[in-house]
Amino acid sequence: MKIVLVGYMGSGKSSIGTILANKLKIDFIDLDEYIVQKEQLTINEIFNLKGEVYFRKIEQVYLKDVLCTDANFVLAVGGGTPCYGINMDLINNYSTSIYLKASIQSISSRLEKWKYKRPLIAHIPIENLPEFIGKHLFERTPFYSKSNFEIITDNKSTEVVSEELLLILRTSLNKH
Ligand code: S3P
Repeated sequence: MKIVLVGYMGSGKSSIGTILANKLKIDFIDLDEYIVQKEQLTINEIFNLKGEVYFRKIEQVYLKDVLCTDANFVLAVGGGTPCYGINMDLINNYSTSIYLKASIQSISSRLEKWKYKRPLIAHIPIENLPEFIGKHLFERTPFYSKSNFEIITDNKSTEVVSEELLLILRTSLNKH
């Protein structure tokens, strides 16, 4: 079983993915961490030293690497991964994809604390975050919406979202 979690930065892909993988007794992989290990640079360093175009190129290479193995896993991709090239088609061809859908408000408040880790928003003043995220999310939603399933995460704990995801997956497996 291969499950891919997609969604905007700060939508809880890594924390929910870790819990879900635990419950399913399969590995959890974070694509950003995989890239960091392979490149021996942080995401910020890759953007600053080599640029976003380079990042998007290797992001696709490593996404393919991970998807094309025989392993079972829950994979959290980056917020931008589904929005470039054929990535979303690759994800849907090799896995069951789930969009973790969060409101602009909850994303903004989660990212306030962690924006320094994200090169695309690190420079944006906190008071401008909701406006930036609103526009960016609007552009990205058509890609996220190609996912097999979606779940709203607002005002839910990571534990509750993970249990709901288990139910979705069990129900869909029973149908096949
Ligand atoms: C990005 C999201 C980040 C990371 C990079 C670019 C994006 O991942 O891949 O900073 O384009 O939205 P997270 O969604 O895990 O923060």
